[in-house]
Amino acid sequence: MPRKPAPAPRFRAVLDSIPGYRPTEGVYDGAPARPLSANESPHQPLPDLVEELAVAGADLNRYPDPACSRLTQAIARRHGADPDQVLVGAGSVALLQALFQAVAEPGATVVHPWPSFELYPVLAALAGVRTVPVPLAGGHLDLPAMAAGITDATRLVLLCSPNNPTGALIRRRELEDFLDRVPPTCLVVLDEAYFEYARDEDACSGIALLDAHPHLVVTRTFSKAYGLAGLRVGCLLGAPHTVVHLHKVCLPYAVSSVAQQAALAALRLEDELLRRVDETVEERTRMCEALRAAGFDVPDSHGNFLWLPLGEGSAAFGERCGAEGIAVRSFAHEGVRVSVGSRPDNDAFLALAARGGSLPCTPR
Ligand SMILES: Cc1ncc(COP(=O)(O)O)c(C=O)c1O
Repeated sequence: MPRKPAPAPRFRAVLDSIPGYRPTEGVYDGAPARPLSANESPHQPLPDLVEELAVAGADLNRYPDPACSRLTQAIARRHGADPDQVLVGAGSVALLQALFQAVAEPGATVVHPWPSFELYPVLAALAGVRTVPVPLAGGHLDLPAMAAGITDATRLVLLCSPNNPTGALIRRRELEDFLDRVPPTCLVVLDEAYFEYARDEDACSGIALLDAHPHLVVTRTFSKAYGLAGLRVGCLLGAPHTVVHLHKVCLPYAVSSVAQQAALAALRLEDELLRRVDETVEERTRMCEALRAAGFDVPDSHGNFLWLPLGEGSAAFGERCGAEGIAVRSFAHEGVRVSVGSRPDNDAFLALAARGGSLPCTPR
């Protein structure tokens, strides 16, 4: 007689539809030799910053400042905003999650671009919010189609600029036109995790548009250009009305004292950190040119990563990279995203890509 399965704790059915987070390509064990899958800074923290962490370490028996007061003020000063327009979180994903939680009522929908940051649909599913994914048009966010996808039930519209994974940038004019089309009762969240890498003269941060558009929220992170991915700090800027509501859904004490101290130090050392970003931008140009010369159809990227639209060949290319110890991110049937990392890691990737003819998928 077949044995009945042992009773087990029951979980929400939606969890069965959510793939577990896949930080790397998953084709090798342990840390990848060449980490080009997570769009991290390849630079080690500045020594001055590390020294400051020891200062915060002396108080580890105490809870952190739950309001992140000093950091909130420093971020507000940095962006010419008021402190009541700023919210700090344990990485910008925590703030994105808070946004979903704050609007998730039965029947609510979120409009988001696709392909874009992989966590958007996951956060929506966890919050019980129905997604309306809007395909990119030629690698760019299709803002008219996104505006057309908004209904009475839409509570959030997500924009990502530069867009992860394609690197496309939303320009000022199209952003303003879009914001004018979205009803003031629906939040527009502009994810600017990679904004510091944008060099286009039409690049415009949503932060400059906040006063004129109270339904706009901009998220930023210390994980990329500021090199603090390991500490988990991000921030959000928006109208005080929005920030007050989001405070209520964020866990208190979520941002550690060490993370707060490090982010303050990063702002103080910003000039030096942004010079490193310039180096990454130069590397991005070098990699992009080399990949195009090797026959890859690489679109211009405004982030610290490049997009290879390999279609059905994406998974095979990702596996090939993994087999050589190079972690990249493949999006099934769509393409492969490679981070702009250290020069030796980039060179290893370019050498592999240049051997395209021997790959299971050849460049288009
Ligand atoms: C578009 C985008 N937004 C947000 C994040 C999350 O950043 P954080 O480390 O601040 O949670 C990422 C991380 O890769 C990202 O690509």
